[in-house]
Amino acid sequence: MEAHAAEVNHRIARISAHLHPSNFKEGGDVLLNKANCRAKGGAPGFKVAILGAAGGIGQPLALLMKINPLVSVLHLYDVVNTPGVTADVSHMDTGAVVRGFLGQPQLDNALTGMDLVIIPAGVPRKPGMTRDDLFKINAGIVRTLCEGIARACPNAIVNLISNPVNSTVAIAAEVFKKAGTYDPKRLLGVTTLDVVRANTFVAEVLGVDPREVDVPVVGGHAGVTILPLLSQVKPPSSFTAEEAEYLTNRIQNGGTEVVEAKAGAGSATLSMAYAAAKFANSCLHGLKGEAGVVECAFVDSQVTELPFFATKVRLGRSGAEEIHQLGPLNEYERIGLEKAKSELAESIKKGVDFIKK
Ligand SMILES: NC(=O)c1ccc[n+]([C@@H]2O[C@H](COP(=O)([O-])OP(=O)(O)OC[C@H]3O[C@@H](n4cnc5c(N)ncnc54)[C@H](O)[C@@H]3O)[C@@H](O)[C@H]2O)c1
Repeated sequence: MEAHAAEVNHRIARISAHLHPSNFKEGGDVLLNKANCRAKGGAPGFKVAILGAAGGIGQPLALLMKINPLVSVLHLYDVVNTPGVTADVSHMDTGAVVRGFLGQPQLDNALTGMDLVIIPAGVPRKPGMTRDDLFKINAGIVRTLCEGIARACPNAIVNLISNPVNSTVAIAAEVFKKAGTYDPKRLLGVTTLDVVRANTFVAEVLGVDPREVDVPVVGGHAGVTILPLLSQVKPPSSFTAEEAEYLTNRIQNGGTEVVEAKAGAGSATLSMAYAAAKFANSCLHGLKGEAGVVECAFVDSQVTELPFFATKVRLGRSGAEEIHQLGPLNEYERIGLEKAKSELAESIKKGVDFIKK
C-alpha cells in the first residue's frame, strides 16, 4: 500500500514537474537529461522538437505532430508562452508525451535525444516587408538554435522553416560546419508550402481533386526562385501559355496573397503548419526506413552550380539520401530557372557571409 502511495506521489511529482510554471524559470532544470528523454509508457516512436512552438505556425504544428502516430515524444520550445501551449496540447489523448521548454537556458534540454527538429522560430513577414527585411532578425535566431542542435542533438534531422529559407539553410550549414557536425543529408529547408499551393492551384485549373495532383517545385523559397515545373505535373497535363503564366505567378506570390489578406495579422500559418507536418511526417517515414518517400526540399545539392537548390529528394534513415535531377524543362521553365538561379546565388551568399564575416 505504502509503496503504491509512493509511486503515485512520484508520478504526480513527475507530471507537475513538466507542467508547473516554476519549472519554466530561466535556467531551471526540468528534470530532463539524456536518460529520461523518452516516452514513459507511450508508444514507440520518434522524438521530435519544435523550436518556436508558441508561434502562429508553431502552435498548429504542435497540434498536428501530437496526432502523428510516429511521434512518441514532442518537445515544445520557445522564448515565450510554452507553458500554456504545452499544457493545452498535452491534454490530447494521443500517444506522444509532450514537454515544454522556455527560454534559452532550456534549449539544450529541449534538444537532447531528438530525432527530428522542426524550426518555425522567427519573425514573420508583415505587409510592406520583403523576405529580405526578415533576414537580420531571423538569421541571428537560426544561428542560436543551430548552435544548440550542434551541441545537444548533432545527429537529428533538421527541418528549417524560418525565412528567408534561401539564406537560413546556408546559415545553418555554416554553423554546423563550424561545430564539425555538418551532414548535408540531415539539413532540409522546408519548401512544402510551395508544393501544397501548386497542387491546389493546378487542381483548380484542371478541375480535379488536389490530392490527385503532384507538381514538382524546384529552385528556392522566395518570389522568382520558386519554380513550379508545370511540364512535369502528374497526372500529365498541358497548359496554355496564359495558364502557365497565371499559375507560376500565383504559386510564386502565394505568400503575399496571404499576407495581404491577413492585413497586418501575420503571414501563412495554418497552411504552413499543414505543409510542415506533411514534410515532417515524410521525414519520419524515411527515418523508419520506408522505401519511395519523396518530397521537394531545399538542400545541399549538385543539381546546378549552386551549393543549395530545391528539387525532389528521396528521404531515408539518414535524411535526404538521393537528390533527384531536374528532368526535362520547357523553354518557359528554362528562362525561369536562370532567373531563379541568379537571385538564389545572392541569397545563399548572404547566409554564408552572415556566419563567416
Ligand atoms: N518556409 C515557409 O514556407 C514559411 C511559411 C510561412 C512562414 N515562414 C516563416 O516561419 C517563421 C515563423 O512564422 P510565424 O508566423 O509562426 O511567426 P510568429 O511570430 O507567430 O511565431 C514565431 C515564434 O518564434 C518565437 N521565437 C522568436 N525568437 C525565438 C528564439 N530565439 N528561439 C525560439 N523561438 C523564438 C516567437 O516567440 C514566436 O512564438 C517566420 O520566419 C516566417 O517567415 C516560413
